[in-house]
Amino acid sequence: MFSKKTVKDVDVRGKRVLVRVDFNVPLAEGAVSDDTRIRAALPTIRYLIDHGARVILMSHLGRPTGEPDPQYSLKPVRRSLQRLIGRNVAFSPEIVGPEAEEAVSRMIDGEILMLENVRFDPGEKANDPVFAKKLAALGDLYVNDAFGAAHRAHASTAGVAGYLPAYAGMLLAREVETLNGILTDPDRPFVAILGGSKVSDKFGVIDKLIDCCDSLLIGGGMAFTFLVAKGLEVGDSIVEADWVEPAKKMLEKAREARVDLILPTDFVIAAEIAEDVETRIVGREEIPVGMKGLDIGPSTIELYKGEIASARTIFWNGPMGVFEMTPFEAGTREVAVAVGRNNRAQSIIGGGDSVAALKKFGLEDRVTFVSTGGGASMKLLEGAHLPGVDSLLDA
Ligand code: 3PG
Repeated sequence: MFSKKTVKDVDVRGKRVLVRVDFNVPLAEGAVSDDTRIRAALPTIRYLIDHGARVILMSHLGRPTGEPDPQYSLKPVRRSLQRLIGRNVAFSPEIVGPEAEEAVSRMIDGEILMLENVRFDPGEKANDPVFAKKLAALGDLYVNDAFGAAHRAHASTAGVAGYLPAYAGMLLAREVETLNGILTDPDRPFVAILGGSKVSDKFGVIDKLIDCCDSLLIGGGMAFTFLVAKGLEVGDSIVEADWVEPAKKMLEKAREARVDLILPTDFVIAAEIAEDVETRIVGREEIPVGMKGLDIGPSTIELYKGEIASARTIFWNGPMGVFEMTPFEAGTREVAVAVGRNNRAQSIIGGGDSVAALKKFGLEDRVTFVSTGGGASMKLLEGAHLPGVDSLLDA
């Protein structure tokens, strides 16, 4: 259940609706190279224009330092949105102030105006109330559809909600509902798969998942910190020494909760991370000094495939190895294929690298839900409050 009012709970006709979207998308040679996040915001934008609203879009792009910086301009994003939505999108180089107000006052019902990157103003990241009020002056209503930025307490993601009636967009509502759903009421067995290089990044999520999943498959660099916590030697593999003790506690917690926390049994090892490097497959107790584990091995892949095939709910975040390089891609690819193949399960992919992996192997359409938020989805799954959600009106 989503506990906030959504855009569908208010009459938007003839209203100036200030919509925060997360159009923080990759650019290459001045054009959007991956428009997933723009596509994900289209249902809310279309809903608003179909219902006669005047849509004013705000977003950040990249991490400029609080002043205009052409490499982070939203102009290429505007071009991409125009193409995707098939209508004109007006653009205001000014974010707040008389020119932006003038551009808004020229709008008629069903039109779209995009403001320049909100992070060009230092008031955005500072969540400055003066800046938030100026943004609010552009609209009659505020809609937050920027799930990917909902963990940031910035002026356009949270502050502005203090000055206008604030509603959730359809994407944000769906993200929160889906991710909360796996924490509270997953179909069982619930198999969680976590990878990536650091335990420290995902510790809160591991902790929370142990409370609600049936098995937790660990891959990627973070596996080595767990193996050291079990007393193994892992050669030159990546280990976070400060996290060995917390990892021990997590293994203990999983044991007590009767959750199968499963670690890889074998690895693809090499002396360095390179495309043409010589690799070997060894058991997890046989990684020599001078070599590092860079992908899960074939026995682990078989083990994980079996777990994934029996699941009714799957959550996956983080690659199993250095999947960007051919010698170390098999673990991540095989996990992705297994997740895609299990069409009886609800399969939810956390943002970030696992999404890149799905794309690399052409499997995005084989899963139930791909989150548009990397950091935000991790925060939500840790049980943290998201300022961009908390600030919206309660349903
Ligand atoms: C993201 O890409 O994760 C979001 O757009 C948030 O971006 P940020 O980490 O720069 O705040």
